[in-house]
Amino acid sequence: MRGAVRIVMASRNQHKVRELARVLAPHALDPLPDFVALPPEDGTTFTENALLKARAVAAATGGPALADDSGIVVEALGGAPGVWSARYAGEDATDEQNLDKLLAEMRGKADRRAAYVCMLAMIGADGSERLFEGRCEGRLALAPRGTGGFGYDPAFLPDDLDGRERTMAELEPGEKDAISHRGRAARALAAALGTP
Ligand code: IMP
Repeated sequence: MRGAVRIVMASRNQHKVRELARVLAPHALDPLPDFVALPPEDGTTFTENALLKARAVAAATGGPALADDSGIVVEALGGAPGVWSARYAGEDATDEQNLDKLLAEMRGKADRRAAYVCMLAMIGADGSERLFEGRCEGRLALAPRGTGGFGYDPAFLPDDLDGRERTMAELEPGEKDAISHRGRAARALAAALGTP
């Protein structure tokens, strides 16, 4: 039996932090201190970017760190936007601008299959590095619906839903956690951390 772990979160995205904290409790996520600068995400894979962020934060704080690199991969766009999901419509693009661009690119395309991917990189107190991946398969809706979640959620129709077709943004937080890429990756991490 091990105690609850405190981990510094290598992200300032409050949506990600909230979703991860819900699944990882009673392990606790500490906010990224203001003095820590996140490195540029210049990797070409989710794994590279997650490790870049987690290593930078572990080095700056001297303690355990957790990074989440995630995005949406769209079949008909050859896997785009992928690791560029946060910057699809430009460096400082808003979620809404990214979503508008994606739906514009998809206009007239019959194959609307897409998947969310989440790669978690965890650096332990002993410097060990572990990766946990989660995936959520789905399709892109023709138009956005719902106000929950963030990012591309209003246009993402997850496959793993029973009954009525809903976008990720129309789900309760617990329903999203149960099937999302992040929920799946975080449960694998929680299992590795053990029950306090
Ligand atoms: P990152 O900060 O480089 O990992 O970029 C993550 C981006 O992927 C976010 O800004 C969103 O655009 C998208 N994304 C990741 N996870 C989700 C999710 O759960 N819902 C909707 N969009 C997501």
